[in-house]
Amino acid sequence: MKKPFLSLTIATTLALGGVSSSPVLAAPAHSSPSEKAPSSDKQIVKRINVDKIYNNIAYLSQSPRVAGTESEYKAVQFIKKQFKSYGYKAEIEEFQFLSYTDPNKVELAFDGYDGKVQPKHLTYSVNGDVSGDVVYAGIGTLEELEQANVAGKIALIQRGNLSFAEKVVNAAQKGAVGVIIYNNAVGDLNGTLGGVNDQYAPAVTITKEAGEAVVAKLKNGEKVKASLKIEGASSGEKTSYNVVATKKATKNIKAKKSDIIYVTGHHDSVAGAPGANDDASGTSVTLELARVLKDMPTDTEIRFITFGAEENGLLGSQHYVDNLSEDEINRSIANFNLDMVGSKDAGELVLLTNDGEPNLVTDLSQASSKRLNGVATPYGEGGRSDHVSFSEAGIPAALFIHNPSEPWYHSPDDTIDKISKEKLQDVARIVGTAVYDQAKVQEKKPNPKHKKGKKQRMPHLHFKKDIR
Ligand code: BES
Ligand code: ZN
Repeated sequence: MKKPFLSLTIATTLALGGVSSSPVLAAPAHSSPSEKAPSSDKQIVKRINVDKIYNNIAYLSQSPRVAGTESEYKAVQFIKKQFKSYGYKAEIEEFQFLSYTDPNKVELAFDGYDGKVQPKHLTYSVNGDVSGDVVYAGIGTLEELEQANVAGKIALIQRGNLSFAEKVVNAAQKGAVGVIIYNNAVGDLNGTLGGVNDQYAPAVTITKEAGEAVVAKLKNGEKVKASLKIEGASSGEKTSYNVVATKKATKNIKAKKSDIIYVTGHHDSVAGAPGANDDASGTSVTLELARVLKDMPTDTEIRFITFGAEENGLLGSQHYVDNLSEDEINRSIANFNLDMVGSKDAGELVLLTNDGEPNLVTDLSQASSKRLNGVATPYGEGGRSDHVSFSEAGIPAALFIHNPSEPWYHSPDDTIDKISKEKLQDVARIVGTAVYDQAKVQEKKPNPKHKKGKKQRMPHLHFKKDIR
């Protein structure tokens, strides 16, 4: 059900091999239909009201919206109310997740080593109050732990090769009462065990410097004892939510068969951060585009979604994508994911794809930004947000973000006063016109070169290698 994207001229040229195989293709002037859409662009641009975006950010960023808390639920109710006021029947989807609360006390003291030790807990580590001889166990394979005879002792393991979780589970399996992992690079090591597991022993990390100093003593035949305390950590099941507003295809096509485009953001924030930019900004642009596009004639379904528990590991989007039917996945052509799109103190807008390759989302957005601003927004490689869940399901997806990020990222200073209306407006325009360019009802001229089922190459407006 994909609409032809190439003009006949370009498709023919490519089919005849008349254009070099270089991925860098300049957009030929006046040849792509996507570059000749000023009237529909204007319809979208004039409808976007940046004050509405700004006011929604101001409301949402009054406090942090940590997934699974009352404050997330309040935000979710607000988002649903906004969608409904635009005429959508918005749905709240609930899902459960395991959340981890960091310990309030992490202590490690060596008897036999006087250097500075600043232990960090590994996320998902269990609590404990243990002491014993320290034994060196290499990188923490089962064989090394067996050979080091770690039972009843504290295993000192070097970072690398195995995951932190594998090292900790291996050590616990061989009877270690605690685990210390030392860094293999300079600096602190803030790691995660990746999830809850009742087979863990209490585990902390230390620097390379401290770890190597203790290993040297042990190798020298000296005895080193340690006591390790982790207190206040907890894990438990929590509930988070996605909010979904769907605009069905309006015309010309059986709604059941239409393509689906997703415009998304995440409404949750990290603890302590009001998350004005991360990501009340993407949530509020998503809301505004839902309002703007509500009554526009489209032959494509558009789903506007704000996800919960993104900050806990993209959990809301993962839950959403996992529950799409095969038919829905097949009909899904694009995910425009907006995350951190309004900071005054961040750099330029970029489009990031999980594999660094261009796709329909970057193509449409480069074309719309070129039409609106005269320059195509560059693309590059990047994960770290909900587009990854779509991309892993085979749905073309890109993250809209400013690069470099603002210094307030994940901090209490991510507040409304750092938000730029110009940036919000620019992103809303680029995404709104890109989505509508693809979704609008248009006369489809039969294209003899466009064989059914055959993938078409697209003209890209690609630039430099990294952030291209
Ligand atoms: N908005 C950020 C992702 C981000 C920040 C991307 C800066 C690029 C530059 C997102 O909300 C986030 O913080 N993601 C987590 C990863 C996630 C899998 C928990 C992150 O990057 O630490
Ligand atoms: Zn974010």
